Amino acid sequence: MFYSPVRTNAAEVAQSNRLHLFRYVEDPEQVKVEKFEEHGGYVAWKKVLAEMEPSQVIEEVKNSGLRGRGGAGFPTGLKWSFVPKDSPKPRYLCCNADESEPGTCKDRVLMERDPHAIIEGMAIASYAIGCHQMFIYIRGEFAHCADCMEKAMKEAYEHGHLGKNIHGSGFDLDMIVHTGGGAYICGEETSLLNSIEGERGMSRIRPPFPAIEGLYSCPTIVNNVESLASVPHIINHGAGWYKSLGTEKSCGSKIFSLSGHVKQPGNYEVELGFSLKKLIYDKDYGGGILGDKKLKGVIPGGSSTPFLTPDMIDIKLDYESLVEGGSMLGSGAVIVFHEDTCIVWVIKRLIRFYRHESCGKCTPCREGTAWLEELINRIEAGRGKPGDVEKVEEICGNILGHTVCPLGDAAVMPILSTLKLWRDEWQYHIDHGKCMVKTDFEFK
Ligand SMILES: Cc1cc2nc3c(=O)[nH]c(=O)nc-3n(C[C@H](O)[C@H](O)[C@H](O)COP(=O)(O)O)c2cc1C
Ligand code: SF4
Repeated sequence: MFYSPVRTNAAEVAQSNRLHLFRYVEDPEQVKVEKFEEHGGYVAWKKVLAEMEPSQVIEEVKNSGLRGRGGAGFPTGLKWSFVPKDSPKPRYLCCNADESEPGTCKDRVLMERDPHAIIEGMAIASYAIGCHQMFIYIRGEFAHCADCMEKAMKEAYEHGHLGKNIHGSGFDLDMIVHTGGGAYICGEETSLLNSIEGERGMSRIRPPFPAIEGLYSCPTIVNNVESLASVPHIINHGAGWYKSLGTEKSCGSKIFSLSGHVKQPGNYEVELGFSLKKLIYDKDYGGGILGDKKLKGVIPGGSSTPFLTPDMIDIKLDYESLVEGGSMLGSGAVIVFHEDTCIVWVIKRLIRFYRHESCGKCTPCREGTAWLEELINRIEAGRGKPGDVEKVEEICGNILGHTVCPLGDAAVMPILSTLKLWRDEWQYHIDHGKCMVKTDFEFK
Protein backbone atom coordinates (compact mmCIF):
# COMPACT_ATOMS: atom_id res chain seq x y z
CA MET A 1 0.00 0.00 0.00
CA PHE A 2 1.50 3.33 -1.08
CA TYR A 3 0.63 6.64 0.41
CA SER A 4 2.54 9.86 0.86
CA PRO A 5 4.83 9.61 3.89
CA VAL A 6 3.41 12.67 5.59
CA ARG A 7 3.50 12.74 9.38
CA THR A 8 0.02 13.02 10.94
CA ASN A 9 -1.22 13.12 14.54
CA ALA A 10 -3.66 10.25 13.88
CA ALA A 11 -2.76 8.45 17.14
CA GLU A 12 -3.69 11.51 19.19
CA VAL A 13 -6.85 12.02 17.13
CA ALA A 14 -7.91 8.40 17.78
CA GLN A 15 -7.77 9.05 21.55
CA SER A 16 -9.88 12.19 21.29
CA ASN A 17 -13.67 12.40 21.19
CA ARG A 18 -13.41 15.84 19.62
CA LEU A 19 -10.99 15.43 16.71
CA HIS A 20 -12.30 13.22 13.92
CA LEU A 21 -10.99 13.82 10.37
CA PHE A 22 -7.74 11.91 10.91
CA ARG A 23 -9.12 9.14 13.16
CA TYR A 24 -8.39 6.31 10.74
CA VAL A 25 -5.84 7.76 8.30
CA GLU A 26 -3.00 5.56 9.57
CA ASP A 27 -5.04 2.39 8.98
CA PRO A 28 -4.01 1.15 5.52
CA GLU A 29 -7.33 -0.74 5.21
CA GLN A 30 -9.39 2.45 5.63
CA VAL A 31 -9.34 3.04 1.86
CA LYS A 32 -11.52 -0.07 1.43
CA VAL A 33 -15.26 0.34 1.69
CA GLU A 34 -15.67 -2.63 4.08
CA LYS A 35 -13.26 -1.13 6.61
CA PHE A 36 -14.76 2.34 6.18
CA GLU A 37 -18.23 0.88 6.90
CA GLU A 38 -16.87 -1.06 9.89
CA HIS A 39 -15.65 2.29 11.27
CA GLY A 40 -19.13 3.81 10.96
CA GLY A 41 -18.81 5.05 7.39
CA TYR A 42 -21.90 5.74 5.26
CA VAL A 43 -24.13 5.67 8.40
CA ALA A 44 -24.67 9.42 8.10
CA TRP A 45 -25.50 9.02 4.40
CA LYS A 46 -28.13 6.35 5.16
CA LYS A 47 -29.56 8.49 7.98
CA VAL A 48 -29.90 11.50 5.70
CA LEU A 49 -31.63 9.47 3.00
CA ALA A 50 -34.01 7.74 5.42
CA GLU A 51 -34.81 10.44 7.94
CA MET A 52 -33.98 13.95 6.76
CA GLU A 53 -35.40 16.44 4.29
CA PRO A 54 -32.79 18.34 2.24
CA SER A 55 -33.72 21.55 4.08
CA GLN A 56 -33.05 19.83 7.43
CA VAL A 57 -29.56 18.83 6.26
CA ILE A 58 -28.83 22.43 5.25
CA GLU A 59 -30.12 23.68 8.59
CA GLU A 60 -27.99 21.18 10.51
CA VAL A 61 -24.83 22.19 8.64
CA LYS A 62 -25.70 25.88 9.09
CA ASN A 63 -26.19 25.37 12.84
CA SER A 64 -22.89 23.50 13.14
CA GLY A 65 -20.97 26.65 12.22
CA LEU A 66 -18.86 24.79 9.61
CA ARG A 67 -16.95 27.24 7.42
CA GLY A 68 -15.26 26.43 4.13
CA ARG A 69 -11.76 25.05 4.49
CA GLY A 70 -10.67 26.04 0.96
CA GLY A 71 -9.40 29.43 2.08
CA ALA A 72 -12.20 31.95 2.32
CA GLY A 73 -13.98 30.46 5.36
CA PHE A 74 -17.47 31.04 3.96
CA PRO A 75 -20.24 29.31 6.01
CA THR A 76 -20.94 26.00 4.25
CA GLY A 77 -24.65 25.59 5.09
CA LEU A 78 -25.36 29.18 4.08
CA LYS A 79 -23.68 28.61 0.72
CA TRP A 80 -25.85 25.55 0.12
CA SER A 81 -28.98 27.56 0.94
CA PHE A 82 -28.23 29.95 -1.98
CA VAL A 83 -29.09 27.25 -4.55
CA PRO A 84 -32.49 28.29 -5.93
CA LYS A 85 -35.15 25.81 -4.79
CA ASP A 86 -37.42 26.42 -7.78
CA SER A 87 -34.82 26.26 -10.58
CA PRO A 88 -35.83 23.80 -13.31
CA LYS A 89 -32.14 23.32 -14.19
CA PRO A 90 -29.99 20.46 -12.90
CA ARG A 91 -27.77 21.30 -9.92
CA TYR A 92 -24.15 20.25 -9.54
CA LEU A 93 -21.73 19.71 -6.70
CA CYS A 94 -17.98 20.05 -7.32
CA CYS A 95 -15.57 18.94 -4.68
CA ASN A 96 -12.48 21.14 -5.02
CA ALA A 97 -9.42 18.88 -4.73
CA ASP A 98 -7.09 21.08 -6.74
CA GLU A 99 -4.91 21.77 -3.70
CA SER A 100 -2.16 23.81 -5.35
CA GLU A 101 -1.57 26.52 -2.75
CA PRO A 102 2.13 26.22 -1.83
CA GLY A 103 2.47 24.59 1.57
CA THR A 104 -0.96 22.94 1.54
CA CYS A 105 -1.08 19.14 1.52
CA LYS A 106 -4.04 18.18 3.72
CA ASP A 107 -6.63 17.24 1.08
CA ARG A 108 -4.09 14.92 -0.47
CA VAL A 109 -3.88 12.89 2.75
CA LEU A 110 -7.66 12.58 2.96
CA MET A 111 -7.89 11.46 -0.67
CA GLU A 112 -5.12 8.91 -0.33
CA ARG A 113 -6.08 7.54 3.06
CA ASP A 114 -9.81 8.11 3.64
CA PRO A 115 -11.41 8.61 0.22
CA HIS A 116 -14.85 7.26 1.24
CA ALA A 117 -15.15 10.02 3.88
CA ILE A 118 -15.00 12.54 1.03
CA ILE A 119 -17.52 10.62 -1.09
CA GLU A 120 -19.90 10.39 1.87
CA GLY A 121 -19.64 14.15 2.50
CA MET A 122 -20.14 14.87 -1.20
CA ALA A 123 -23.22 12.62 -1.30
CA ILE A 124 -24.81 14.35 1.70
CA ALA A 125 -24.10 17.79 0.21
CA SER A 126 -25.59 16.66 -3.12
CA TYR A 127 -28.76 15.48 -1.41
CA ALA A 128 -29.04 18.78 0.47
CA ILE A 129 -28.91 20.87 -2.72
CA GLY A 130 -30.87 18.46 -4.95
CA CYS A 131 -27.92 17.44 -7.12
CA HIS A 132 -27.79 14.13 -8.98
CA GLN A 133 -24.38 14.52 -10.64
CA MET A 134 -21.36 15.34 -8.52
CA PHE A 135 -17.73 15.87 -9.50
CA ILE A 136 -14.42 15.78 -7.74
CA TYR A 137 -11.82 17.97 -9.47
CA ILE A 138 -8.36 16.69 -8.56
CA ARG A 139 -5.07 18.52 -9.09
CA GLY A 140 -3.48 17.13 -12.28
CA GLU A 141 -0.23 16.13 -10.58
CA PHE A 142 -2.10 14.09 -7.95
CA ALA A 143 -2.34 10.96 -10.11
CA HIS A 144 -2.28 8.68 -7.08
CA CYS A 145 -5.11 10.62 -5.42
CA ALA A 146 -7.17 10.26 -8.58
CA ASP A 147 -6.55 6.48 -8.55
CA CYS A 148 -7.62 6.29 -4.89
CA MET A 149 -10.79 8.26 -5.56
CA GLU A 150 -11.61 6.17 -8.67
CA LYS A 151 -11.23 2.94 -6.71
CA ALA A 152 -13.32 4.25 -3.81
CA MET A 153 -16.00 5.51 -6.20
CA LYS A 154 -16.23 2.08 -7.85
CA GLU A 155 -16.65 0.44 -4.44
CA ALA A 156 -19.26 3.01 -3.40
CA TYR A 157 -21.31 2.08 -6.49
CA GLU A 158 -20.86 -1.65 -5.80
CA HIS A 159 -22.06 -1.22 -2.22
CA GLY A 160 -25.12 0.76 -3.29
CA HIS A 161 -23.98 4.12 -1.84
CA LEU A 162 -24.06 5.71 -5.30
CA GLY A 163 -26.17 5.02 -8.39
CA LYS A 164 -29.93 4.65 -8.82
CA ASN A 165 -32.49 4.47 -5.99
CA ILE A 166 -29.76 4.57 -3.35
CA HIS A 167 -30.64 2.36 -0.36
CA GLY A 168 -34.27 2.26 -1.56
CA SER A 169 -34.69 6.02 -1.09
CA GLY A 170 -35.62 6.84 -4.67
CA PHE A 171 -32.65 9.25 -4.77
CA ASP A 172 -30.20 8.87 -7.69
CA LEU A 173 -26.64 10.14 -7.59
CA ASP A 174 -23.69 9.74 -9.94
CA MET A 175 -20.09 10.77 -9.53
CA ILE A 176 -17.28 11.77 -11.90
CA VAL A 177 -13.59 11.93 -11.00
CA HIS A 178 -12.06 14.74 -13.06
CA THR A 179 -8.36 15.46 -13.14
CA GLY A 180 -7.07 19.00 -13.62
CA GLY A 181 -4.47 20.28 -16.04
CA GLY A 182 -1.92 21.32 -13.42
CA ALA A 183 -2.73 25.01 -12.97
CA TYR A 184 -3.06 26.73 -9.59
CA ILE A 185 -5.79 28.98 -10.96
CA CYS A 186 -8.01 25.93 -11.56
CA GLY A 187 -8.46 25.78 -7.76
CA GLU A 188 -10.29 29.11 -7.97
CA GLU A 189 -13.89 27.98 -8.18
CA THR A 190 -14.96 29.62 -11.43
CA SER A 191 -11.77 28.59 -13.26
CA LEU A 192 -12.40 25.06 -11.99
CA LEU A 193 -15.86 25.13 -13.57
CA ASN A 194 -14.41 26.40 -16.87
CA SER A 195 -11.86 23.61 -16.75
CA ILE A 196 -14.52 20.92 -16.24
CA GLU A 197 -16.42 22.40 -19.19
CA GLY A 198 -13.31 21.93 -21.32
CA GLU A 199 -12.50 25.64 -21.46
CA ARG A 200 -9.25 27.34 -20.47
CA GLY A 201 -8.86 27.71 -16.71
CA MET A 202 -9.72 31.39 -16.42
CA SER A 203 -11.70 33.08 -13.69
CA ARG A 204 -15.23 34.27 -14.41
CA ILE A 205 -16.52 37.68 -13.45
CA ARG A 206 -19.04 37.50 -10.60
CA PRO A 207 -21.98 37.93 -10.21
CA PRO A 208 -23.51 35.57 -11.15
CA PHE A 209 -22.07 33.37 -8.41
CA PRO A 210 -21.80 29.62 -9.07
CA ALA A 211 -24.67 28.82 -6.66
CA ILE A 212 -26.96 30.62 -9.13
CA GLU A 213 -25.12 30.06 -12.43
CA GLY A 214 -22.15 27.70 -12.27
CA LEU A 215 -21.30 24.58 -14.23
CA TYR A 216 -23.02 24.59 -17.67
CA SER A 217 -24.84 27.73 -16.39
CA CYS A 218 -26.65 25.64 -13.77
CA PRO A 219 -26.73 26.14 -9.98
CA THR A 220 -23.47 24.71 -8.61
CA ILE A 221 -21.85 24.39 -5.23
CA VAL A 222 -18.07 24.21 -5.01
CA ASN A 223 -16.67 23.01 -1.69
CA ASN A 224 -13.23 22.04 -0.48
CA VAL A 225 -12.36 18.40 0.29
CA GLU A 226 -11.92 19.03 4.02
CA SER A 227 -15.21 20.97 4.26
CA LEU A 228 -17.08 18.06 2.71
CA ALA A 229 -15.25 15.39 4.73
CA SER A 230 -16.42 17.22 7.90
CA VAL A 231 -20.11 16.91 6.98
CA PRO A 232 -20.75 13.21 7.90
CA HIS A 233 -19.38 13.91 11.40
CA ILE A 234 -21.86 16.77 11.81
CA ILE A 235 -24.73 14.49 10.79
CA ASN A 236 -23.54 11.65 13.05
CA HIS A 237 -22.80 13.70 16.16
CA GLY A 238 -25.09 16.69 15.66
CA ALA A 239 -24.61 20.38 14.96
CA GLY A 240 -24.35 21.13 18.71
CA TRP A 241 -21.40 18.78 19.11
CA TYR A 242 -19.56 20.33 16.17
CA LYS A 243 -20.30 23.83 17.38
CA SER A 244 -18.81 22.97 20.77
CA LEU A 245 -15.43 22.37 19.08
CA GLY A 246 -13.09 25.25 18.35
CA THR A 247 -14.05 28.83 19.19
CA GLU A 248 -17.38 30.62 19.14
CA LYS A 249 -17.07 31.84 15.55
CA SER A 250 -14.53 29.34 14.20
CA CYS A 251 -16.14 26.00 14.93
CA GLY A 252 -14.82 22.49 14.52
CA SER A 253 -11.42 21.03 13.89
CA LYS A 254 -9.04 21.81 11.04
CA ILE A 255 -6.02 20.20 9.47
CA PHE A 256 -2.90 22.37 9.44
CA SER A 257 -0.08 21.52 7.04
CA LEU A 258 3.12 22.47 8.83
CA SER A 259 6.23 22.84 6.65
CA GLY A 260 9.54 24.68 6.30
CA HIS A 261 12.18 24.94 9.00
CA VAL A 262 10.55 22.77 11.67
CA LYS A 263 11.83 19.49 13.02
CA GLN A 264 8.59 17.58 12.44
CA PRO A 265 6.75 18.83 9.38
CA GLY A 266 3.40 17.18 8.76
CA ASN A 267 -0.37 17.46 8.79
CA TYR A 268 -1.89 18.01 12.21
CA GLU A 269 -5.59 18.02 13.03
CA VAL A 270 -6.40 20.38 15.89
CA GLU A 271 -9.42 22.32 17.08
CA LEU A 272 -9.68 25.81 15.64
CA GLY A 273 -8.27 28.22 18.18
CA PHE A 274 -5.20 26.03 18.79
CA SER A 275 -2.01 27.95 19.55
CA LEU A 276 0.26 28.67 16.57
CA LYS A 277 3.24 28.75 18.90
CA LYS A 278 2.38 25.29 20.25
CA LEU A 279 1.95 23.93 16.73
CA ILE A 280 5.47 25.04 15.85
CA TYR A 281 7.30 24.24 19.09
CA ASP A 282 5.48 21.43 20.94
CA LYS A 283 7.23 18.04 20.84
CA ASP A 284 3.99 16.37 19.65
CA TYR A 285 3.66 18.77 16.71
CA GLY A 286 6.41 20.73 14.95
CA GLY A 287 8.99 20.01 17.64
CA GLY A 288 10.74 23.39 17.26
CA ILE A 289 12.96 25.04 14.69
CA LEU A 290 15.44 23.03 12.62
CA GLY A 291 18.95 23.11 14.05
CA ASP A 292 17.52 24.86 17.14
CA LYS A 293 17.90 28.13 15.28
CA LYS A 294 15.85 31.22 15.97
CA LEU A 295 12.53 31.71 14.24
CA LYS A 296 12.46 34.49 11.67
CA GLY A 297 8.91 34.44 10.35
CA VAL A 298 5.82 32.36 9.64
CA ILE A 299 3.23 32.33 6.90
CA PRO A 300 0.21 30.97 8.79
CA GLY A 301 -2.35 30.21 6.06
CA GLY A 302 -0.65 29.24 2.81
CA SER A 303 1.65 31.27 0.57
CA SER A 304 -1.09 33.83 -0.13
CA THR A 305 -1.26 35.13 3.43
CA PRO A 306 0.78 37.86 5.16
CA PHE A 307 3.82 36.92 7.29
CA LEU A 308 4.00 36.99 11.06
CA THR A 309 7.17 37.69 13.09
CA PRO A 310 8.16 35.74 16.25
CA ASP A 311 6.53 38.31 18.55
CA MET A 312 3.24 37.78 16.67
CA ILE A 313 2.95 33.98 16.92
CA ASP A 314 1.39 33.80 20.36
CA ILE A 315 -1.91 33.68 18.54
CA LYS A 316 -4.88 31.37 18.09
CA LEU A 317 -5.28 29.56 14.82
CA ASP A 318 -8.80 30.66 13.96
CA TYR A 319 -10.36 32.91 11.34
CA GLU A 320 -10.88 35.93 13.61
CA SER A 321 -7.65 35.87 15.63
CA LEU A 322 -5.42 35.67 12.56
CA VAL A 323 -7.16 38.60 10.88
CA GLU A 324 -6.81 40.57 14.09
CA GLY A 325 -3.13 39.59 14.17
CA GLY A 326 -2.55 40.91 10.64
CA SER A 327 -2.79 37.73 8.58
CA MET A 328 -5.33 35.07 7.57
CA LEU A 329 -6.19 31.43 8.24
CA GLY A 330 -6.37 30.70 4.47
CA SER A 331 -5.92 27.05 3.66
CA GLY A 332 -4.14 26.29 6.95
CA ALA A 333 -0.65 25.84 5.53
CA VAL A 334 1.82 27.04 8.15
CA ILE A 335 5.23 27.70 6.57
CA VAL A 336 8.10 28.37 8.97
CA PHE A 337 11.36 30.23 8.20
CA HIS A 338 14.39 30.29 10.47
CA GLU A 339 16.83 33.15 11.09
CA ASP A 340 19.08 32.33 8.12
CA THR A 341 16.36 33.01 5.57
CA CYS A 342 16.70 35.91 3.17
CA ILE A 343 13.20 37.32 2.99
CA VAL A 344 13.80 38.92 -0.43
CA TRP A 345 14.82 35.51 -1.73
CA VAL A 346 11.60 33.97 -0.34
CA ILE A 347 9.54 36.64 -2.08
CA LYS A 348 11.47 36.09 -5.30
CA ARG A 349 10.44 32.41 -5.21
CA LEU A 350 6.81 33.26 -4.43
CA ILE A 351 6.38 35.91 -7.12
CA ARG A 352 7.83 33.54 -9.69
CA PHE A 353 5.03 31.13 -8.79
CA TYR A 354 2.25 33.73 -8.95
CA ARG A 355 3.43 35.22 -12.23
CA HIS A 356 3.56 31.77 -13.75
CA GLU A 357 0.09 30.90 -12.45
CA SER A 358 -1.66 34.16 -13.39
CA CYS A 359 -4.36 33.26 -15.90
CA GLY A 360 -3.77 36.54 -17.76
CA LYS A 361 -7.38 37.69 -17.84
CA CYS A 362 -6.90 41.01 -16.08
CA THR A 363 -4.14 43.54 -16.68
CA PRO A 364 -3.11 44.39 -13.10
CA CYS A 365 -2.36 40.74 -12.32
CA ARG A 366 -0.99 39.71 -15.72
CA GLU A 367 1.32 42.68 -16.16
CA GLY A 368 1.87 43.52 -12.50
CA THR A 369 3.13 40.08 -11.47
CA ALA A 370 5.52 40.08 -14.46
CA TRP A 371 6.92 43.51 -13.51
CA LEU A 372 7.24 42.43 -9.90
CA GLU A 373 9.13 39.30 -10.86
CA GLU A 374 11.60 41.26 -12.97
CA LEU A 375 12.09 43.94 -10.33
CA ILE A 376 12.42 41.56 -7.40
CA ASN A 377 14.85 39.31 -9.31
CA ARG A 378 16.99 42.38 -9.88
CA ILE A 379 16.88 43.45 -6.22
CA GLU A 380 17.65 39.95 -4.97
CA ALA A 381 20.60 39.64 -7.33
CA GLY A 382 22.11 42.84 -5.90
CA ARG A 383 21.29 45.02 -8.91
CA GLY A 384 18.51 47.05 -7.29
CA LYS A 385 18.37 50.83 -7.74
CA PRO A 386 17.34 53.52 -5.27
CA GLY A 387 13.55 53.75 -5.32
CA ASP A 388 13.02 50.08 -6.26
CA VAL A 389 11.49 49.17 -2.90
CA GLU A 390 8.98 51.97 -3.31
CA LYS A 391 8.31 50.77 -6.86
CA VAL A 392 7.57 47.25 -5.60
CA GLU A 393 5.18 48.77 -3.08
CA GLU A 394 3.46 50.88 -5.73
CA ILE A 395 2.95 47.98 -8.13
CA CYS A 396 1.56 45.83 -5.31
CA GLY A 397 -0.86 48.65 -4.43
CA ASN A 398 -2.04 48.79 -8.04
CA ILE A 399 -2.79 45.06 -8.04
CA LEU A 400 -4.41 44.77 -4.60
CA GLY A 401 -8.19 44.91 -4.88
CA HIS A 402 -8.10 45.62 -8.64
CA THR A 403 -8.33 42.14 -10.11
CA VAL A 404 -11.05 39.76 -11.29
CA CYS A 405 -10.17 37.02 -8.83
CA PRO A 406 -8.27 36.88 -5.55
CA LEU A 407 -5.04 35.54 -7.15
CA GLY A 408 -3.85 39.11 -7.60
CA ASP A 409 -4.34 39.88 -3.90
CA ALA A 410 -2.76 36.53 -3.02
CA ALA A 411 0.36 37.45 -4.97
CA VAL A 412 0.91 40.80 -3.30
CA MET A 413 -0.28 40.40 0.30
CA PRO A 414 2.80 38.44 1.42
CA ILE A 415 5.08 40.94 -0.36
CA LEU A 416 3.46 43.95 1.29
CA SER A 417 3.74 42.30 4.69
CA THR A 418 7.50 41.76 4.25
CA LEU A 419 7.93 45.39 3.19
CA LYS A 420 6.36 46.33 6.51
CA LEU A 421 8.13 43.75 8.68
CA TRP A 422 11.60 43.56 7.08
CA ARG A 423 11.95 46.78 5.09
CA ASP A 424 15.54 47.18 6.30
CA GLU A 425 16.42 43.89 4.60
CA TRP A 426 14.94 44.98 1.29
CA GLN A 427 16.79 48.30 1.54
CA TYR A 428 20.07 46.55 2.43
CA HIS A 429 19.90 44.58 -0.83
CA ILE A 430 19.71 47.85 -2.72
CA ASP A 431 22.25 49.83 -0.69
CA HIS A 432 24.86 47.05 -0.46
CA GLY A 433 24.11 44.92 -3.52
CA LYS A 434 23.89 41.81 -1.36
CA CYS A 435 21.91 40.16 1.39
CA MET A 436 22.38 40.90 5.10
CA VAL A 437 21.36 37.35 5.98
CA LYS A 438 23.47 34.27 5.48
CA THR A 439 21.22 31.83 3.62
CA ASP A 440 22.59 28.33 4.16
CA PHE A 441 19.88 26.30 2.49
CA GLU A 442 18.49 25.93 -0.98
CA PHE A 443 14.84 25.24 -1.83
CA LYS A 444 14.45 23.86 -5.31
C1 LIG B 1 -6.04 31.21 -6.97
C2 LIG B 1 -6.96 30.43 -6.10
C3 LIG B 1 -6.72 29.08 -5.87
C4 LIG B 1 -7.58 28.34 -5.08
N1 LIG B 1 -7.30 27.02 -4.87
C5 LIG B 1 -8.15 26.29 -4.12
C6 LIG B 1 -7.90 24.90 -3.92
O1 LIG B 1 -6.92 24.33 -4.40
N2 LIG B 1 -8.78 24.21 -3.16
C7 LIG B 1 -9.90 24.80 -2.60
O2 LIG B 1 -10.70 24.12 -1.97
N3 LIG B 1 -10.15 26.11 -2.77
C8 LIG B 1 -9.31 26.85 -3.51
N4 LIG B 1 -9.59 28.17 -3.72
C9 LIG B 1 -10.84 28.72 -3.14
C10 LIG B 1 -12.04 28.40 -4.06
O3 LIG B 1 -12.18 29.44 -5.02
C11 LIG B 1 -13.35 28.27 -3.27
O4 LIG B 1 -13.50 29.40 -2.46
C12 LIG B 1 -13.42 27.03 -2.40
O5 LIG B 1 -13.17 25.84 -3.14
C13 LIG B 1 -14.79 26.91 -1.76
O6 LIG B 1 -14.86 25.82 -0.90
P1 LIG B 1 -15.15 25.99 0.65
O7 LIG B 1 -16.33 26.93 0.76
O8 LIG B 1 -15.47 24.63 1.13
O9 LIG B 1 -13.92 26.57 1.24
C14 LIG B 1 -8.73 28.95 -4.50
C15 LIG B 1 -8.97 30.33 -4.71
C16 LIG B 1 -8.09 31.04 -5.49
C17 LIG B 1 -8.38 32.49 -5.71
S1 SF4 C 1 -6.32 38.08 -10.82
FE1 SF4 C 1 -4.83 37.01 -12.10
S2 SF4 C 1 -5.52 34.90 -12.04
FE2 SF4 C 1 -7.26 36.15 -11.34
S3 SF4 C 1 -8.44 36.62 -13.19
FE3 SF4 C 1 -6.96 38.26 -12.99
S4 SF4 C 1 -5.21 37.58 -14.26
FE4 SF4 C 1 -6.47 35.80 -13.84
